[in-house]
Amino acid sequence: MEEHARSVKALIELHLGLERKGPGDPEVSAYIIKQLPQLPPNPHIADMGCGAGAATLLLAEQFHSKVRAVDFSKEFLDELMYRARQKGLEACVEAIECDMARLDWESGTIDLLWSEGAAYNITFEGALKAWRPLMAVHGIGVLSEMNYFAEDPPERVTQYMRNAYPGIKTEAQNVDLINSSGFEVLGVHRLPSTAWWENYYGPLRENIRALKNSNDHVMQAVIAETEEEMKFFEQHDEDYGYTFYIMRAI
Ligand SMILES: C[S@@+](CC[C@H](N)C(=O)[O-])C[C@H]1O[C@@H](n2cnc3c(N)ncnc32)[C@H](O)[C@@H]1O
Repeated sequence: MEEHARSVKALIELHLGLERKGPGDPEVSAYIIKQLPQLPPNPHIADMGCGAGAATLLLAEQFHSKVRAVDFSKEFLDELMYRARQKGLEACVEAIECDMARLDWESGTIDLLWSEGAAYNITFEGALKAWRPLMAVHGIGVLSEMNYFAEDPPERVTQYMRNAYPGIKTEAQNVDLINSSGFEVLGVHRLPSTAWWENYYGPLRENIRALKNSNDHVMQAVIAETEEEMKFFEQHDEDYGYTFYIMRAI
């Protein structure tokens, strides 16, 4: 197996069992859902890069409608379906193992497209481009994206991002991007840094502890990089973080 595939495999293993595979917060998501414009009855909903379905299950519970949950990790989708069964929600979840950048779905059909902490994998711009044709008339998108909070972030942070996330933008740039991608921005909502620690990094630290003595050098490299990421965020959570963009297809 080539090095990149081994890193992805180790990253997936490091995240197994975690409810969230990235920063997020059920209260923030619930708050955003409450602000959304009225959706049609039995809306068509998709959760792109759903992981173990933190948002999928919330959406299924909230709308009592089927959620298409897309991820390319079978392990994460298995976790999602296990959790869906535990909550009696399996009939509301369709787990789809595929690349979210290459969906052959009928165009103009999605009433609510949700994606937390995943769009960056295909670039935020690429995600908007790939998903816009799927949107129903006036369909709503809710995407979270890691971006700079400051218009002019410190040199140390831009330097770090050159490697960590070269495509990172400011919120203003992302708003412009959305507005020029066939959507209009309805709202912008920052995820508080406490959500990173309480819901993501905290549980992830437990997994790191359990795998710390693994003699797999790829896993060791993934752990070292993850710890570095946490340390950096601790020092710079005012300079960057996740922002939810609520948008409507126009
Ligand atoms: C940071 S995790 C977030 C997962 C979930 N939304 C959450 O908040 O817990 C990003 C997810 O995107 C998935 N992913 C990355 N690239 C993908 C692609 N091209 N197609 C489908 N899923 C992808 C990963 O497997 C992972 O589950």
